[in-house]
Amino acid sequence: MGYSSSVYKSAADKLAERRLAAEKQADARRSEIYARDPRARELEQAIASCGTAAVRAVLNGGDVAAEMTKLKEKNLALQQELRALLVGYGYSENALEPQYACEKCNDTGYCEQQGRTVMCTCLKQQLVACACEEFNRIVPLQLSTFESFCLDYYSKSVDPATGIAPYYHMEKIEKFCKAYAQGFTPQAQSILMKGATGLGKTHLSLAIANEVIRRGYGVMYVSAPELVIKLERERFARDRDGDILETLTACDLLIIDDLGTENHSPYTDSQLYTLFNSRVLSHRPVIISTNLTMAQLEKDYSSRFVSRINGAAQKLDFLGKDLRIKRI
Ligand SMILES: Nc1ncnc2c1ncn2[C@@H]1O[C@H](COP(=O)(O)OP(=O)(O)OP(=O)(O)O)[C@@H](O)[C@H]1O
Ligand SMILES: [Mg+2]
Ligand SMILES: [Zn+2]
Repeated sequence: MGYSSSVYKSAADKLAERRLAAEKQADARRSEIYARDPRARELEQAIASCGTAAVRAVLNGGDVAAEMTKLKEKNLALQQELRALLVGYGYSENALEPQYACEKCNDTGYCEQQGRTVMCTCLKQQLVACACEEFNRIVPLQLSTFESFCLDYYSKSVDPATGIAPYYHMEKIEKFCKAYAQGFTPQAQSILMKGATGLGKTHLSLAIANEVIRRGYGVMYVSAPELVIKLERERFARDRDGDILETLTACDLLIIDDLGTENHSPYTDSQLYTLFNSRVLSHRPVIISTNLTMAQLEKDYSSRFVSRINGAAQKLDFLGKDLRIKRI
């Protein structure tokens, strides 16, 4: 199980709320309809009494089959009359039934599939939404915004090593990230943020997260070391319903921070590749940030992973001097 119990609880609570609301609305409609036409109540009662009459017929013995056929016909006629009455007053035919948001599970979160009780897709979706919400509460997003991103930390003089002035280069990166966040869609491209430590990679990825969340999308942020621990834990989890990989694969935007600082193994590498690849294949963006150069990435990770990143992600090279030192 990949989600915390609080995520499960809030997802189950959301569904229960939905179910209750549908039932309350149906009750309110019933009272309204009874008030408009008392015949509706009579019909409902008569339909219910067909059920008890059927039980009685079986218990009494005699020509049960003939009795059942009669009851069935009576029941059908009553139902037809009730439907016609409802439609006549401008309601839908099933206005007396609760209108659940999910027809598959009637908002219970579980449905039957080949004789087995399985988690409904609506509960899975709700778990993803709640996991994203929980993440928003844990990560101190408000600290890293575009407003608090300041270009003055980057030098305007040309760095002889690169021939580039960090200020102007970072100005372009900031602009790109702002436009990315403001125009974000769940089919947006992926981004690879590369560069030395303390240059604002985490800051800008969280600034994007802030804006994308504000616009109503589900964002997951995870550091690579944290991700590897989660993946290892999942490996030994027996029940994989609603596991963490599913949230990471399904959310609108996934941010993997500090790639290269994790304790990776062939297993976690292949899981990481699968995660990245399945997101790329379904056009779901990932933002990866790393201190590693492309050459180091190629050395440390499988070539298929690196070539996947190369093909799918816009590369942003962060330049400048470590801001953590500069700001002291
Ligand atoms: N341009 C900026 N304006 C204001 N604050 C910044 C800027 N860039 C970075 N910071 C702040 O400096 C600190 C270090 O930046 P950040 O964590 O984003 O660096 P990083 O590139 O992710 O480093 P690392 O590779 O070590 O993870 C953070 O507190 C961040 O909020
Ligand atoms: Mg960082
Ligand atoms: Zn459902």
